[in-house]
Amino acid sequence: MCGIVGFTGKHEAQDILLAGLARLEYRGYDSAGIAFFKDNGDHISMRKTAGKVKDLAAICDEENNSTCGIGHTRWATHGGVTNANAHPHRVGSVVLIHNGIIENYHELVSEYGLQKDLVSETDTEVAAALFNKMYNGDPIETIKKTVPLFVGSFAFCIMFKSHPGEIYAVRNVSPMVAAFTEKDGAFIASDLTAFVDYSKDYFIVPEYHILRMTQDRIELTDLEGKEVKPEYLKVDWDVSAAEKEGYDHFMIKEIHEQPNAIIRTIGGRIHGDLPDFKDDGVSDDFFEGVRDITIIACGTAMYAGMVGRTFIQNKFGIPVNVAIASEFRYERPVITDETMVIVISQSGETIDSLEALRLARKYTKKTLAIVNVKGSSIARESDAVLYTHAGPEIAVASTKAYSVQVAMMYLIGCKLGLVSGRTTEAEMKEFMADLKKVPDIIKSMLTIESKVDKLTSRMTNAEHAFYIGRELDYTLSMEGALKLKEISYIHAEAYAAGELKHGTIALIDEGVPVIAIASQSDVYSKVISNIREVKARGAYVILISKDAKITDESVCDVHLQIPKVRDELAVFASVVICQMIAYYTSIGKGLNPDQPRNLAKSVTVE
Ligand code: F6R
Repeated sequence: MCGIVGFTGKHEAQDILLAGLARLEYRGYDSAGIAFFKDNGDHISMRKTAGKVKDLAAICDEENNSTCGIGHTRWATHGGVTNANAHPHRVGSVVLIHNGIIENYHELVSEYGLQKDLVSETDTEVAAALFNKMYNGDPIETIKKTVPLFVGSFAFCIMFKSHPGEIYAVRNVSPMVAAFTEKDGAFIASDLTAFVDYSKDYFIVPEYHILRMTQDRIELTDLEGKEVKPEYLKVDWDVSAAEKEGYDHFMIKEIHEQPNAIIRTIGGRIHGDLPDFKDDGVSDDFFEGVRDITIIACGTAMYAGMVGRTFIQNKFGIPVNVAIASEFRYERPVITDETMVIVISQSGETIDSLEALRLARKYTKKTLAIVNVKGSSIARESDAVLYTHAGPEIAVASTKAYSVQVAMMYLIGCKLGLVSGRTTEAEMKEFMADLKKVPDIIKSMLTIESKVDKLTSRMTNAEHAFYIGRELDYTLSMEGALKLKEISYIHAEAYAAGELKHGTIALIDEGVPVIAIASQSDVYSKVISNIREVKARGAYVILISKDAKITDESVCDVHLQIPKVRDELAVFASVVICQMIAYYTSIGKGLNPDQPRNLAKSVTVE
């Protein structure tokens, strides 16, 4: 939600800011802006506009010699998409950009008499006005006095008139990373993709610490003024991972990256043919004494959790509850110190998941994070963390993160099964051997991409679509439906195939697309009967199954065959088809699947 970037150093800032913003556009793309010290003097100039980063680039001067500036790409929360509401915001001597939400902005306006300073409808401008009101010529003292007055989440980059070449930053909850190199200068951003071309070493700006950046150094102090040494991390992926590398969109690139992502997630965690997390610093003791599991997550990550739930409960008989993070926070938690709480999050910054984790930690010391982004808040605040190593996921619609999260849930489930004596080493060795085949299973599905592309021509005019399946296929259907909804804007619902006849079948009419997934052997014939019921009512049925012999037109219009793998692993094949259906339907409708309307990646607002 909103991308921020700042640079002060030995190069012209504008190009670095615009390139950084283009990389951060996945976080918000309704308005964009930059501010910089004009001619490196003490006057701060701004350019901002409603629209995308390319619209901002169009209003920027071709030449700009400033070597210090900040930039922002917005996902609107307070106030519509207008030029005035775009960041940066200037009030008096202060120019700033912000990611997050200042919850008490109304109260601040009346308490500090800020109304006369405001020209936009944003909470951010109120923050700029408050910093300006408190400004006494000393930026650090001003930040120290002002920051405790804010309620909410924030990552601010601030420039003060009369302090050319300097950028100040402070954050609470909303992410911010920074780096300094002798050769280039100081960088700051919501996410290191913005400056990874310049530095592979970076640090996470600690909450409630003040960062001062100049072209020669970075200084970090706490709110008491004590100097703090930044803890540098190293990027474990290559710069090319943040580029499209010849693909039309990040989404299709990331769909294709799934085989390698799975290899990185499970490789190194299977030792002696058994699941093993010792290299992650998570010993078997952590899995001992677990009576039940609560999985907490949002969106796609939650759907990955649902697959994990069905897998663990059915295979090992361990009770598993899946909670929507934003609801869990306000429910009475039914967890004890014998509950393992698993928080799944690609970004590791989703505020609802983070707050739910904080609540869960009051009840159990067995919180385990499955996270992709190294050093993110959820990773740092959990008792244990398992990184999925999928590389940066830039498309707003999550694809590879889902597959690796499911793979990780399978590894965790098997570990719990073994530690609790609910399965045998022999059984798990066989399962691990099959799990290692998942990358090849996915590769084989990528070969039918053009077939999927063609069949989506029947989907582009649809207003509604249904995804049906039973058991693991039902949980997978939810992810399939979400993918279609978010990038093609077709209303899509997932139903347990056996549930349709209890009401929803009334919605099935001539030509309504039904994506039916039938990979689970024990319920196969039952799903096929359910499919016949919708087919008989005119549905356009796309069937995903392992059955090589389907020729019967009373069952489906199109059959997409997946390999004959064990039932638990079929989900990896079927999800690739669902992702491709959503992608090509979006393309067929002339949409940009990487930047769906109203959405942004990394949801850091509640
Ligand atoms: C959908 C999607 C979202 C995220 C959700 C959680 O394609 O990407 O539903 O899965 O916002 O995000 P993380 O995993 O970062 O916590």
